[in-house]
Amino acid sequence: MEPHIEANQRAWATIAHEHYLAFKQVLSQQPSTLNSTQIEELGDISGKTLIHLQCNTGADTVSLARMGARVTGVDLVPENVAYARQLAADFGIQDARFIASNVLEIMEHHDEKYDIVFTTEGVLCWLPDLYLWARNIRQLLKDDGFLYVMDGHPFFMLWDEDCLPELRVKYPYFSKNADQDGWIGGYASEGKPAVNYGWMYTVGEIVTALSQAGLHIEWFHEFDWAYYRLSAERQVRNDCGGWIYPEYVGKLPFTFSLKATIR
Ligand SMILES: C[S@@+](CC[C@H](N)C(=O)[O-])C[C@H]1O[C@@H](n2cnc3c(N)ncnc32)[C@H](O)[C@@H]1O
Repeated sequence: MEPHIEANQRAWATIAHEHYLAFKQVLSQQPSTLNSTQIEELGDISGKTLIHLQCNTGADTVSLARMGARVTGVDLVPENVAYARQLAADFGIQDARFIASNVLEIMEHHDEKYDIVFTTEGVLCWLPDLYLWARNIRQLLKDDGFLYVMDGHPFFMLWDEDCLPELRVKYPYFSKNADQDGWIGGYASEGKPAVNYGWMYTVGEIVTALSQAGLHIEWFHEFDWAYYRLSAERQVRNDCGGWIYPEYVGKLPFTFSLKATIR
């Protein structure tokens, strides 16, 4: 395995147990870990076959199964996959399947086709090659299937997280190099020290990668809210379940979503 991906696999494994426990608690208190925009944009998924890429410990996978989809989760980290199976069992979801795989290699050893490929919230930044990602997605989709993505907007990924809401560019928009970080997680449970690597991507790269893989982008939505809490201070919740800085509402993009179909 490529050394950066191997480091990421080790890093995510260190927080797998805590994520499982945290998401188990959330899912015993509420039906879904998806936000209302995701639910609305996805539409009716009952009876559909759905593959959830970068599923972590399966919280969204369980939520999607509760919406009636026949789910398969994929994650790089065997520990995440084991906990995802446990989480599904905890909530009585018998037919969920989980696969341990790098999403950039999934088409090499999985040849099933799905109605929906779903991937959200902290996914693209872990992938060194969006063109290969898009080709894998094309391979996973039935001819009448669709891809749904929601993630951090590339323009939001620029900012130094320690300075927000002050805007200071830390991660260059056009950067092609892996950025090394020493800390993993922190959104579902306490973060932990672990070397990991992330990549920047531009709006143009997302659109071009999908298009070159034979996908047609039906829409690309941009939102002025973040899908998770960035800093304890000055951020408030909006009625989509997102987090806003009031001074940036209507001014800056924080999140995007897209739907793509086969051309
Ligand atoms: C921020 S989490 C995504 C959380 C997800 N939205 C959820 O449902 O909880 C990122 C996930 O991507 C996984 N990951 C990172 N690189 C990957 C790769 N190359 N292939 C598959 N999964 C990967 C990590 O193991 C981690 O579980």
